[in-house]
Amino acid sequence: MINILISDKLGTAGLEMLDQAEDARYDMKTGLSKEELIAIMPEYDGLIIRSGTQADADLLAAGTKLKVVGRAGIGVDNIDIPAATERNIVVMNTPGSNSVATAEQTMTLMLAVSRHTVAAHNSLAAKEWNRSQFAGGELHGKVLGIVGFGRIGHLVSERAQAFGMTVVAHDPFVKAEDAAKVNVSLVDLDDVFAQADYLTLHTAVTPETTKMIDGEAIRKMKEGVIIVNVARGKLIDEAALADALNSGYVKAAAIDVYTSEPPADDNPLLNASNVLHTPHLGASTVEAQRNVATQVVSQVLDCIRGTETRNAVNNLS
Ligand code: MLT
Repeated sequence: MINILISDKLGTAGLEMLDQAEDARYDMKTGLSKEELIAIMPEYDGLIIRSGTQADADLLAAGTKLKVVGRAGIGVDNIDIPAATERNIVVMNTPGSNSVATAEQTMTLMLAVSRHTVAAHNSLAAKEWNRSQFAGGELHGKVLGIVGFGRIGHLVSERAQAFGMTVVAHDPFVKAEDAAKVNVSLVDLDDVFAQADYLTLHTAVTPETTKMIDGEAIRKMKEGVIIVNVARGKLIDEAALADALNSGYVKAAAIDVYTSEPPADDNPLLNASNVLHTPHLGASTVEAQRNVATQVVSQVLDCIRGTETRNAVNNLS
C-alpha cells in the first residue's frame, strides 16, 4: 500500500482521488513542527506539500522510504532540491495549474492599487463621501514591465494588452522572436526598469534574482512607478522598497508575498506609504486549488507506481 503524507492543506478533490485509489492511503497532518514531521516521515512513500512545509535536508533524510515530494503549486523554494536529488527523491511541482489564478490576482492588484479601491471602501464604510480624494490612474496607455516571461508572465501580458497597455518583458530564457509573436518586446532588465509605468514580477527566487528589486534597481525606474509582486517576497529588498514608497519615488506597490510569511511585525513594508497588502493569495481560487490538488495527487501516485514521472524539477540519474 502506497503511504502518503499531506503536510499542508490540500483541496478536497485531491483527497477524494486518494480515497478512491485502491493501492494508496494518506494522512493529512497540517501544522506539525519540524520535529513532529521528522518523527513520522519514515512511514511514508510520498510527501505532498504547499508552501507551508519546509522540506529541508533534515526532513528528507528522515524520509527513509520517501520516493517523491509533490509540490501542489509552482514555487519549489521551500524544498532542498540538491538534498532530494542526493537521496534519489523526485521533486515535482504542478506548473500551469494555478497560473490563471495568479495572473488574475496580478490584474486585480494593479487595478485596485491604481483606483485606491481598498482605501475608498474603508472611507465609505467610515460613513465618508470623499470622491475627489480617490481619483485614480488608468492602465490604458501605460507600459507594463514584466520580469519573468513564463506561463504567468504570458497570461498577465494577454490581459494587460486587453486593457490597452504596452508590454515589455525581460526573461533570459525566452527568445525575442517568441515574445514578439505575442506583441511583447523582450528587452534588458535595465530597459524594463527604465520603461515601465507598472512593474510586475513573475520569476523564481534564485541566487541571481534574490533582492533583484533593491535600491539600485529602483533608481533605474521611472519616478512614479507602481510595483506589483505576487511571485516571491525574496525578489524584493523590502527595506529599499519601503524607503522608495515613503519618499514617493515609487508611487505605490501591491504586495502579495513577503520575505518571511506571515510577514514579521517589523517588516518595513507593513507601515510603508501606499501599499496594498494581501496574504499570499495569488493561487487561492477554488479552481486553482482543485487543479493543483488533483494534478499533484495524480503525479505523485503515477511516480510511486512507476507508471510515469511528470513535472520533475530534479534530474535523478
Ligand atoms: C505557487 O508557488 O504555486 C504559489 O505561490 C502558491 C502557493 O505557494 O501555494
